[in-house]
This record gives sequence, structure tokens and C-alpha cells, in this order.
Amino acid sequence: MSRFLADEAETAAFAARLARVLEPGIIVYLRGPLGAGKTTLVRALLRARGFRGRVRSPTYTLVEGYPGVAHFDLYRLADPEELEGIGLRDFLDGRTICLIEWPERGAGVLPPPDLEIRLHPSGSGRQLVVEAGSPRGERILKRLAQI
Ligand SMILES: Nc1ncnc2c1ncn2[C@@H]1O[C@H](COP(=O)(O)OP(=O)(O)O)[C@@H](O)[C@H]1O
Ligand SMILES: [Mg+2]
Repeated sequence: MSRFLADEAETAAFAARLARVLEPGIIVYLRGPLGAGKTTLVRALLRARGFRGRVRSPTYTLVEGYPGVAHFDLYRLADPEELEGIGLRDFLDGRTICLIEWPERGAGVLPPPDLEIRLHPSGSGRQLVVEAGSPRGERILKRLAQI
């Protein structure tokens, strides 16, 4: 799936649609350069799920937990082995939606994604590409295309 998102409101609208189709335990990789809108998308997704508290970018903490969701930002991860120290295993409980920025930093330790979302600056907006990485991801992508 590919879409042009003209502004932040369109990123948020896409995130709200994604929130409706994601299933517990799904692993989502978020790729794209700094400022592409990965954290913006996660924040809007959490809002769409009804979370009203603060959503901080986990730039230094590497992970922030929310009801049913873990948000990772691995930009500052020095070594994939450090993922054990931030409790990766606890979040891989089959129930928690894992949204992972900079997954390449955790290569070899992270599980493969069910969905991969790529965001790239394009003019004053963003180009979005969503790909499935598993049969489960395929099903979610099909539902996403229908709503
Ligand atoms: N579709 C869009 N078009 C233009 N700007 C956007 C869009 N989506 C988000 N933004 C803006 O881009 C910036 C993205 O920042 P952030 O979400 O922190 O990026 P990242 O987590 O990828 O580093 C924010 O200032 C946000 O308002
Ligand atoms: Mg970010």
C-alpha cells in the first residue's frame, strides 16, 4: 500500500485507520529518516486507541510502554544485545503491539515484522509505504485497504 500524506493531519488520519485494524502482539517496523513522522504516527495511533496521557519520544529511554502498546526508538541503541536490558522479551508476550522506530539498530535480536511502514519526505508532505512481512500482516493490510 502506498499513499501521499499531505500534512500532519493526514498522517494522524492514517494512524487512526491503522489503529482499527492492528491486532494484539503485532510487530510493526517504522522506517524513514529523522523527522519523517514516525513518532507523530505512533502518537496519533495511541490517541486513536483512547490514550490521553503524554506520549514522549523514547529517544533516550529506547522504549515507552502504554496500555497494550510498546513504542521503541532504537536510534541510540549501541548494540542489539542491549535490547535484553530494556525488557524486550517482556513486550514480546504475544499481546503487546510493538511499534519500532529504527529497527535496523536491533537487527539480529528483534523479531521480524508483521508490518513495515516507511515514511519519506516528499515536497511538503510525506510518502507512505506499508508492506506486510507475514501472513498476519497480509490480513491486516487487506483490512486496512478496505476502510
Ligand atoms: N504528512 C506530513 N506532512 C508534513 N509534515 C508532517 C507529516 N506528518 C508529520 N509531519 C511533521 O513532521 C515532523 C515529524 O517528526 P517526528 O514524528 O518526530 O519524526 P520521526 O519520529 O520520524 O523522527 C513533525 O514536525 C510533524 O508535524
Ligand atoms: Mg521519532
